Amino acid sequence: MTDRIPVITLDGPAASGKGTIAERVAQALGFHYLDSGALYRIATLNALRKGVPLDDAAALTAAAEQLAPVFEGGRILLEGEDVTTAIRSEGVSAATSRVAVVPGVRAALFALQKNAARHPGLVADGRDMGTVVFPDAPLKVFMTASARVRAERRYKQLIGRGETADLEALTRDLEERDRRDSQRATAPLRPAEDAKVLDTSEMGIEEVVKKVLLWWDEAR
Ligand code: DC
Repeated sequence: MTDRIPVITLDGPAASGKGTIAERVAQALGFHYLDSGALYRIATLNALRKGVPLDDAAALTAAAEQLAPVFEGGRILLEGEDVTTAIRSEGVSAATSRVAVVPGVRAALFALQKNAARHPGLVADGRDMGTVVFPDAPLKVFMTASARVRAERRYKQLIGRGETADLEALTRDLEERDRRDSQRATAPLRPAEDAKVLDTSEMGIEEVVKKVLLWWDEAR
């Protein structure tokens, strides 16, 4: 009876700030939070570590069907190992958009995502939360921002962490991932028909959170 559990879906392209917004909205409402991208990242890291070729759809699917990640106090454990940081590397990010095109992998991760819907409610962030996984959600938000703005946000984040970054390369990389995410045959990135589209290029985090909470008040 997951349909009765209130769900807010938050979809959008890479680095659109969905994760931050989803977490804040979940916190404000006391809801659970599903980072569906993390599941695709875990499936990819697992495949890379086990030497599964990224062009072998059947092997990728079989590996994804065995996944049993544990989410514990903000940390992610895979076969007992903390992979919270490892799944965020640029290498895993790039490989994940290739693994995410495999229909069998998407099917394998579907149940894990559905199971995240628990009382008192869920905020789910990803690419196909509103279109495929939670099509009955009473509030669906599709967040956009130009590739340049998203690359600048990512750039500031990396520099802030003391890492090096190249703005042009980040922009190109995001455009490439957008292209793969939106042109794939299965569950491509696109707004659900009844999604509220929000361009956050000129908006701050607080402003976006307020807007989503306002929509939630109107939707429920
Ligand atoms: O949101 P993210 O950057 O962590 O997502 C990582 C990759 O996983 C990205 O290439 C898109 C893919 N993804 C997906 O296909 N479907 C989802 N629901 C979430 C992420």
